[in-house]
Amino acid sequence: MSDRINYIERLLESDDETKVIFDKLVKLLQSLFSTRYSWVGIYLVEGQELVLKAWCGPQATEHEKILIGTGICGLAAQEKQTIIVLDVQKDDRYLECFPNTKSEIVVPIITEEGQVLGEIDIDSDKPNAFTDEDKDFLEAVAQDIAKKAAILGLIP
Ligand code: SME
Repeated sequence: MSDRINYIERLLESDDETKVIFDKLVKLLQSLFSTRYSWVGIYLVEGQELVLKAWCGPQATEHEKILIGTGICGLAAQEKQTIIVLDVQKDDRYLECFPNTKSEIVVPIITEEGQVLGEIDIDSDKPNAFTDEDKDFLEAVAQDIAKKAAILGLIP
């Protein structure tokens, strides 16, 4: 895991624009675990909404903006906690994006001061696709994004 994290840290420190960095990051995450990570997106908080900034997967989502508190994405931002849904059909909080999605993980990007800047959202076409190992890895990625928030221009 540390090799991957080191690589991601270097990606986050590159001179590219933030949009380009996020595009590369979602592609990288999807390709690392392509059999389970079917769709990978990064949302950022803007006011009371989460706004989709980069995604990688077979199709675009209609949920480009999600109110904080709504859906699994909005809930993870509100509760400042990673949420894993092992079977989306059984969770009424779930907002459907893709008919093939069976499970989902949402990992908030939180600064050391506790400010939620955004989140990483991953949908899987496989049921029960996410483990504690995914949670640990993706929380480390989210923490790295939060640490680089100033250079990425995520903090006004
Ligand atoms: N399923 C999410 C909405 C975003 S899409 O998965 C891309 C939710 O319940 O908030």
